[in-house]
Amino acid sequence: MYQTDILKDKVALVTGGRSGIGYGIAKQFLQLGATVMICSRKEEPLQQAAAELSEYGTVAYLPCDIRKTDQIKVVADKIKADFGRLDILINNAGGQFPAPAELISENGWAAVINNNLNGTFYVSQIMYKEFFAHQNSSVIVNIIANMHRGFPGMAHTGAARAGVENLTKTLAQEWAQHGVRVNAIAPGTIESSGLEQYPQPIRDRFEAGKEENLMKRFGTVEDIANAVVFYASDLSSYVSGTTLYVDGCEHLAGDRMGLIKTLRSML
Ligand SMILES: NC(=O)c1ccc[n+]([C@@H]2O[C@H](COP(=O)([O-])OP(=O)(O)OC[C@H]3O[C@@H](n4cnc5c(N)ncnc54)[C@H](OP(=O)(O)O)[C@@H]3O)[C@@H](O)[C@H]2O)c1
Repeated sequence: MYQTDILKDKVALVTGGRSGIGYGIAKQFLQLGATVMICSRKEEPLQQAAAELSEYGTVAYLPCDIRKTDQIKVVADKIKADFGRLDILINNAGGQFPAPAELISENGWAAVINNNLNGTFYVSQIMYKEFFAHQNSSVIVNIIANMHRGFPGMAHTGAARAGVENLTKTLAQEWAQHGVRVNAIAPGTIESSGLEQYPQPIRDRFEAGKEENLMKRFGTVEDIANAVVFYASDLSSYVSGTTLYVDGCEHLAGDRMGLIKTLRSML
């Protein structure tokens, strides 16, 4: 556990903060002294999450679709009005669906790219213009995925996340002039709400992957949140443009073809 005031006086925005990994990051940020704004599309669960999280500190929420720049701008305006500044942006919102590449429709491809790549860019650019360009010290952490050896079975998200990894390197260089550090975290298979949405055969495949993992377990939301705190805090004050794999070494070892084999067996 980090020093309990390591994020004291910091204001953070966590996209997709109503569930899973984003919720875990928001909770840990609050416990470490930050003020947190969470946003995602569905208002009721977002409000519920904010109510739960308020036990740990000051939390605000606003429904927002990261694909819609007018809605992101409203979030920036609310952060400005309520807190006056933004120090930390966690681009965590995202989603995808498993499918062999040849069966992904034009709409399906565009939807995942728009959410996972374009949405991340839109939020980053707006928060940079509204806050980071006028401050001396800010942090962006992009939650991507383990696509180091490609992403058979989810070509769209692999491509989108690789795009975000490259964007991380570009923004780290372009925005360093205003003290913005930009890094990415690539989770392996994390036991979270995100896994529950997949059909049972795919979840069975993930279970098999757990046995193939060199550490013989899924990652936890806390594993990701701990890594995010490192990037978000001054502990990493000389680190920018990097990607940290939090995946039990899955980017190097394990069967990357397992998911696509399962998908083909379901056809
Ligand atoms: N769990 C894993 O094993 C794993 C591995 C690698 C990467 N990841 C990535 O890590 C992130 C968090 O995953 P998770 O497991 O916590 O899944 P999750 O519970 O499904 O979280 C995704 C969050 O993003 C929000 N969201 C999705 N699209 C959005 C949009 N267009 N605008 C605003 N909010 C949006 C969702 O809320 P609404 O539906 O209400 O908008 C939800 O709160 C995702 O990007 C996921 O792809 C997860």
